[in-house]
Amino acid sequence: MVSEIASRENIVVEAKDVDFYYGKNQALKGVTIQIIRNKVTCLIGPSGCGKSTFLRSLNRMNDRIAGARHTGLIEIDGENIYSRKTDLMQLRRKVGMVFQKPNPFPTTVYENIAMAPRIHYGFGERELNEIVETALQKAALWDEVKDDYKRKHALALSGGQQQRLCIARTLAINPEIILMDEPCSALDPISTYKIEELIKELSGDYTLIVVTHNMHQAGRISSHTAFFNLGELVEYGTTESIFQRPAKRETEDYVSGRFG
Ligand SMILES: Nc1ncnc2c1ncn2[C@@H]1O[C@H](COP(=O)(O)OP(=O)(O)O)[C@@H](O)[C@H]1O
Ligand SMILES: [Mg+2]
Repeated sequence: MVSEIASRENIVVEAKDVDFYYGKNQALKGVTIQIIRNKVTCLIGPSGCGKSTFLRSLNRMNDRIAGARHTGLIEIDGENIYSRKTDLMQLRRKVGMVFQKPNPFPTTVYENIAMAPRIHYGFGERELNEIVETALQKAALWDEVKDDYKRKHALALSGGQQQRLCIARTLAINPEIILMDEPCSALDPISTYKIEELIKELSGDYTLIVVTHNMHQAGRISSHTAFFNLGELVEYGTTESIFQRPAKRETEDYVSGRFG
C-alpha cells in the first residue's frame, strides 16, 4: 500500500497494529499506517470511527484519559513515542495540535504566541518580537493584526482569526507535525477557505494531519487520505485514488455519500 506512496525517509509517522481502548470500548483496531513527511494527510470517516482517537495518540493527548490504553507501536522519526525515554514536553513541541474550537488564551494576540517560546526557550524581547511576527505571517494573520497585535485581545478576533492565531501559536514553537482535529468545523465558509489555503501553504514545511468529516475539504487540501470506519483503517492512499478509484466497496460507498 505504501510502497507506491513513499520511500522510507519520507515517512514521518509510522503506526503498527495499533489497538486502542477506552475501558472496554475498543476505538481502534489494528491500525497500521505510514504518514508522509511534509504533506497534508486527511483522516476521514463517519462520526465515532476513531479519527480523533488516532490523531490524539500521535502526541499522547490520550494519556490523560482515565481508562485509556493501547497496544501496538507508534513511531515518529523512527522513535517509539510511548517509550519510557520519551520526553512528553519535547514530543508536544514536535507534534503541535490545533483543535476544533479555536482556544486562544485570554490575553493579547502577541502574548498568545510569545508565551511558549519565552517559557520553553527563554527568548528575550527582541527575539520574541521576531518570532511573533514570523508566526503571524506564516499563519496569514499578520496583515489583519499588524497595527495592534500587542494590545489587541485575542478574544476580540473573529472565529477564523482566532483559529489562525492558534495555528500561529503552534508554529511559534517550531513543530515538525501539526495535528488538526476538524479545524474548520466551527468556522464560516470564508474563514474555512482561508484555513484551507493556509494548510496547503504550510505543507512542504510541515507534516499536517487533518481530521475532517467534510470529504470535499479532504479533496481540496490533502495529498493523502486515510478512510476509517468502526475503528479500522479501511483504506489509505493518495487522495486521488481514494476518491477516484477506491479499492474497497466500503470506501466507495462512503466517498460517494452512500453512508456516513
Ligand atoms: N474520552 C473518551 N472516553 C471514552 N470513550 C471515548 C472517548 N473519546 C472517544 N470515545 C469513543 O471512542 C470511539 C471513537 O471516537 P473518536 O475517536 O472521537 O471518533 P471520531 O473522531 O472519528 O468521531 C467512539 O466510540 C467514542 O464514543
Ligand atoms: Mg472526532
